[in-house]
Amino acid sequence: MLIETLSTFPNMYDSVMGTSIMKRAQDKGALQFRAYDLRDWTHDRHRTTDDDPYGGGHGLVMKCEPIFEAYEAITRDAALPKPTTVFLSPCGRSFDDALATELSQSERLLFVCGHYEGIDERAYALADVTVSLGDYVLTSGELASMVVIDAVVRKIPGVLGAELGAVEESFAGGLLEYPQYTRPASFRGSCVPDVLLSGNHAAIARWRREQSLARTAQLRPDLLRCADLDEADRRFLRNFLESAHA
Ligand code: ADE
Repeated sequence: MLIETLSTFPNMYDSVMGTSIMKRAQDKGALQFRAYDLRDWTHDRHRTTDDDPYGGGHGLVMKCEPIFEAYEAITRDAALPKPTTVFLSPCGRSFDDALATELSQSERLLFVCGHYEGIDERAYALADVTVSLGDYVLTSGELASMVVIDAVVRKIPGVLGAELGAVEESFAGGLLEYPQYTRPASFRGSCVPDVLLSGNHAAIARWRREQSLARTAQLRPDLLRCADLDEADRRFLRNFLESAHA
């Protein structure tokens, strides 16, 4: 996969993209990453990328001309597929595991990252999707894009060491992940649940499933509506919710 970003602080990506799994994905050849500087497509002495909002108000708005010029230059190479272009904004589609999976199927992603008060609305004509991380405002679109990039790249086949990792964890089955433990078995009086030391794989699988169900019911009951549940899951949830309300 080719991932490109267009922003005013391209060096913000150095640490995240140069470390750990993001770096390994590039070393393995599963990912190519390029961070473009939007200022390279400005034409004035100050390399201006923003201006006052029409209609008045606080802050600055990112100009659309450098964004269009950059987009046209970045996508000019006919040998490369046209990118899926992702804008980041609190006014976008909520980011979740399903959207991460969708984006991970694209051969090429281009993230356009704003700063300050926002981006001139006309630039959104270039967006295939606008993504919001949640109901809060970040100062840096780069930061938002890095969260999306991380969640997407770990879904590329071969990127995670343990192939099952991305499938088994939270959300993939529509539930929160069960609790995990490692050595020591007892720490300051707090012990690992006996079942995990039992060697009984069927019992461990059932315990983990029930922990996922209980956690989801307690913390994110909204997820249960779309989760993939069988009859044993439903029975467990009925009992769990009855005893919680008793
Ligand atoms: N840029 C600023 N705030 C954001 C948010 N919540 N999600 C995505 N991009 C953003």
